[in-house]
Amino acid sequence: MVDLVLGANGQLGWYVCEGLLDAGRQVRGLVRTSPRGQDLARRGVETVLGDLTAPTGLGPRVFDGVDTLVVTANAVVPRSGDDPDALDAGVGRAVEEAVAAGVRRVVIASVPVTPVDRQVPFVQSRRALEERLRGLDVETVALRMPPYLECWLALVGSSIPLRGEPHATIGRPSSFLRTFRAGTATLVERRGLMLVPGSPAHRNAFVSVRDVARAMVEAVRRDAVTGLPHAEIEVAGPEVLTWQEVADVFGRLLGRRVRILSTPPRVYAAMAGVLGPVATVPARTMALNLLIASTETPWSPGGGGLVDPATMTTLDQFLTAKLALPEELPTVA
Ligand SMILES: NC(=O)c1ccc[n+]([C@@H]2O[C@H](COP(=O)([O-])OP(=O)(O)OC[C@H]3O[C@@H](n4cnc5c(N)ncnc54)[C@H](OP(=O)(O)O)[C@@H]3O)[C@@H](O)[C@H]2O)c1
Repeated sequence: MVDLVLGANGQLGWYVCEGLLDAGRQVRGLVRTSPRGQDLARRGVETVLGDLTAPTGLGPRVFDGVDTLVVTANAVVPRSGDDPDALDAGVGRAVEEAVAAGVRRVVIASVPVTPVDRQVPFVQSRRALEERLRGLDVETVALRMPPYLECWLALVGSSIPLRGEPHATIGRPSSFLRTFRAGTATLVERRGLMLVPGSPAHRNAFVSVRDVARAMVEAVRRDAVTGLPHAEIEVAGPEVLTWQEVADVFGRLLGRRVRILSTPPRVYAAMAGVLGPVATVPARTMALNLLIASTETPWSPGGGGLVDPATMTTLDQFLTAKLALPEELPTVA
């Protein structure tokens, strides 16, 4: 029995592959090019080449012997030339191929339901995928996650969360992201300034990517996850924190005051609207910021019934461990 991971060389995808291997499972990972699969192959993953945007689909060889399909692939930080809409369509196609090939369960990494879902293309695409899965004759588990520590604590102006993360989403080769990071990558540690989307009082159950991967591995391994054919599970981190509390923890560990510069949701909404017709990736990024600026995920307890919250990584533990690592940053090839 094989577990197939779509998005295997991504940040979450990599940890899911590792976790499945550690659980003694046979893991196959889809990668677009051989070099991107080298680390996975060294780790024991069977890599298969394929592009989810191929109009003909991935083909039966990719799904041969697959019991569980795990979907983490996404185009939130696309490579040059990637078309996010084509990827979303391709993920839907792949899920249908998998079901036709006899896959027993599909586990997807998804996002919370929010009042601004319709304004955020990536969220819309995950909602559409969840809906599509509900119409298929296959057991499905959609894990909906709050903001990841490794991503959003970097995006607000720090490079500390990226230490020791060779597959970091925020290290991916996106020209837009690199331009944005050029001016903001170390604002927190160098200038004591945190760029927060929305109110500093907004609360989130921030979660580490490694804990998300543990939840996904559990959703693959368990004989029954919820007993329902189609389940949506919110996987919170171990503590609910405001952005102000995040800034305070950074400040305490860095030994300096960290101030928040907050941008209201309407600014992101306006930027997404203006950029939409001319620049897809920046517009989508503004929409994601709108999502964070206008919503909260104050969920508790952590773990979604899949991971014991007492074993999950708190913000203090996360930053303390990162600060003990060398400053070298990931450059995802
Ligand atoms: N970040 C957050 O705060 C947050 C919150 C809630 C949920 N989530 C969910 O968590 C997941 C994050 O996954 P991640 O960290 O592994 O993402 P990631 O680091 O951004 O990696 C993206 C992956 O998708 C693959 N991909 C993109 N286009 C492809 C194509 N055409 N064909 C095949 N593969 C393609 C990439 O391959 P290449 O390297 O070849 O491009 C890469 O493996 C997402 O599903 C997201 O919905 C994230």
